[in-house]
Amino acid sequence: MTRLPSGELALGGVPLGDLSRQSAEVGGDAGARVGTPTYVYDLDGMAREARELEDAFEGTPHLVAFAVKANSAGPIVRALVAEGCGADVVSGAELLLAMRCGVSPERLVYSGVAKRDDELDLAIGVGDAGIRAINVESVEEIPRIAARAAAQGRVARVTLRINPGVDADELDTHSYIATGHDEAKFGVPLPSVADAVAALDAARSNVHLVGVTSHAGSQLTSVEAYLASARAVFETAKSLRPRFALEFVDTGGGFGIDYGDGCPVRPADFIRAARAAQREHGLGDLALYCEPGRALVGAHGVLLAKVIQRKIAAGEPTRRWLMIDAGMNDLMRPALYQARHRIVPVVMEAGARLLPFRVVGPVCESSDDFGVHDLPEGDVAEVALLDAGAYGYSMSSRYNGRPLPAEAFLRGGVVAALHPRKPITDWVDDRR
Ligand code: LLP
Repeated sequence: MTRLPSGELALGGVPLGDLSRQSAEVGGDAGARVGTPTYVYDLDGMAREARELEDAFEGTPHLVAFAVKANSAGPIVRALVAEGCGADVVSGAELLLAMRCGVSPERLVYSGVAKRDDELDLAIGVGDAGIRAINVESVEEIPRIAARAAAQGRVARVTLRINPGVDADELDTHSYIATGHDEAKFGVPLPSVADAVAALDAARSNVHLVGVTSHAGSQLTSVEAYLASARAVFETAKSLRPRFALEFVDTGGGFGIDYGDGCPVRPADFIRAARAAQREHGLGDLALYCEPGRALVGAHGVLLAKVIQRKIAAGEPTRRWLMIDAGMNDLMRPALYQARHRIVPVVMEAGARLLPFRVVGPVCESSDDFGVHDLPEGDVAEVALLDAGAYGYSMSSRYNGRPLPAEAFLRGGVVAALHPRKPITDWVDDRR
């Protein structure tokens, strides 16, 4: 993200105010113009993130499984696959999408506390031998997987996703995205690992344990909690090794990004720390997997929105709102997690005086509120909500009859692909 000398914001070398012209070149169709609200993604920036993370493994066996839930757009998944990523999926649909985007079954892991039978059947049945691993999240899931595998005459490869029981305060992230503490529904709690082992032993003819995994939480901005969770993985793997032919340990995702308040660690720092701890535990011969979502894509996407109007309420203090055409249905993070995304004008007039505006969307909810931002006192035509590449579009909805936002994918300084907005009549047709 850069501000050009002209005052215009640019992403991936493309001036954002100029997107309509660029998109017309791609599609040649005025109807496919970008308009707003639109997510714009810099595929080159995402590819760079993936390469930097790949380099942190320094040639040791590994898999960077991109958490598709963060952004499931095909051009993004394909760009990351081209850099060597596999995928971490959480539904049958994500599994199929990842495969359509070029992820081979042996580079797919599948997490989720409540996988349906048809989803398990898919994971077990794809390709010659099913996916790389189904992450088992409860003791109860093991006989279910065994039965589904037996019905197909296959052996399912699984990892044991432990709940590392990290103190919730130590996780230092929003409680909705902290997963590795005792009250969370995710993973097998450490005191239940013995029961899981018994269930795995009983299911040996149809279920093979190939790894141990955990995911501490998301948007972690220091390595401590990640390491605490990783150490629990390594200790569990060490204790299971004599009985099971483990192939890898998987320390999950969660690498934080800078939403404006700073983030002192890079994704590579988490991996370097995990690798060192893995070696200390005598597990250096196992492959190391990780499941980053946000860190690969978050900083390389913006949500463009048009300013509909301003509203100034007289009184003490004067209240100023900026109403934009993107709402909580397009970017849900502020409403759901009190998350803050910086908001800046697409074109910044030189010498503009800035005043605090509360930026809100059109949705009929008080939580449709992107917070107070310093913005030019005068007219602003378009704004960009920054760092919206992860958990933006993928969490969007059609609430209030609003169409899903458009998406533009930049590569090499041009719009390489465009997912246009659907007409509002689609919603009317679907709902009538
Ligand atoms: N692996 C597992 C098992 C996960 O549950 C998650 C995220 C990830 C990997 C990827 O985590 P990441 O590297 O992206 O932090 N919607 C929330 C984030 C939810 C994360 C859920 N699990 C947000 O907008 O902040």
